[in-house]
Amino acid sequence: MIDVARVRAETPGCRTVIHFNNAGAALQPQPVLDAVLGHLRLEAEIGGYEAADRAQAALESVYGSIARLINAAPEEIALVENATRAWDMAFYSLKLGPGDRILTARAEYASNVIAFLQIAERTGAEIVVVPNDEAGALSVETLERLIDSRVKLIAVTHVPTNGGLVNPAAAIGRVARRHGIPYLLDACQSVGQMPVDVAEIQCDMLSATGRKFLRGPRGTGFLWVRRAMIEKLEPPFLDLQAARWTGPQSYEIRKDARRFENWESFVAGRLGLGAAAEYALALGFDAIWARVRALAEHLRRSLGEILGVIVRDLGHERCGIVTFTTEAVSAPALLQALKAAKINATTSSIFSTRYDMTARGLDMVLRASVHYYNTEDEIARFCDVVRERVAAK
Ligand SMILES: Cc1ncc(COP(=O)(O)O)c(C=O)c1O
Repeated sequence: MIDVARVRAETPGCRTVIHFNNAGAALQPQPVLDAVLGHLRLEAEIGGYEAADRAQAALESVYGSIARLINAAPEEIALVENATRAWDMAFYSLKLGPGDRILTARAEYASNVIAFLQIAERTGAEIVVVPNDEAGALSVETLERLIDSRVKLIAVTHVPTNGGLVNPAAAIGRVARRHGIPYLLDACQSVGQMPVDVAEIQCDMLSATGRKFLRGPRGTGFLWVRRAMIEKLEPPFLDLQAARWTGPQSYEIRKDARRFENWESFVAGRLGLGAAAEYALALGFDAIWARVRALAEHLRRSLGEILGVIVRDLGHERCGIVTFTTEAVSAPALLQALKAAKINATTSSIFSTRYDMTARGLDMVLRASVHYYNTEDEIARFCDVVRERVAAK
């Protein structure tokens, strides 16, 4: 069980705002803030390189913390700037050719699809969007039926940006494994709110960000690549961190996942990311997930009771992201009312998830994403504001 009073006391932002934008960037807990600010102070006092030298052991241990988070090994982790860069480093390392197929989900994120489209245009590879099942999750049965010798990649989003859906990552992994197809999982929105175990999911590559449900600093993210895959993937670009210049005409690429990194980084942010991982691990993902799910279901039920509100979340299993529309009031106008009441939420538009929004005839939804430090009282306040705004039209 989460000690809600304790985690709120350890979260300075809880004193100033009702934060239902955890899928945007969650409120950082005090240990994350201390790690980042402490290192920035040290950099100012003794110099950036010198501060990094002094933090060397702590920086190394970040790889271990991230590895434990997803049940991986430290040498399989690359620390990068965000989830997009992590995902790109994996995707653009794959060699696709004319007629090769990428199977993806309807809920796929815009940046991923834009990369698919670019590679399709360059190489003649094809994008196949796997239809959803009756609950709105990726249909694993259909995915398996679509597999043939042309399929060279399964790349899906675990939790989309525009809703509470949790795609069946482990069931997809069983299919990928059975057919020996590389499997890239975008876990940007799932890591931090639920258990994510790469051994159980059986993916080959996984990308995630620091600032969302993991509660780390902005500008941090990581890529995990299965040990056996690392040396098969040549990064799309290399620097002196990813490779060593061994002679006038030669270089050697690193053998671990740091081949996907680049040299300069936000060192304080990395330390904050490690602190965020340790904070979550200490609370435990079973406890985190149970509370996030319970709060989100409570929010969905409460919103569902407001006349004119339509909750939009799909899937058999739903997470901490709650999305809805109302007939009377647009999502931006609702957001404005929430902002005036010091409640953070956001909107999600067709430009982030075009396949899915088009299929559902949606242009924009209001997105409220809860975390374990939110409370039932905050949910009541959120719903009061929505109710009043809808009634006022
Ligand atoms: C599903 C999904 N993938 C990837 C990203 C990109 O993450 P980042 O902004 O850390 O690059 C997002 C961001 O909202 C997302 O929702």
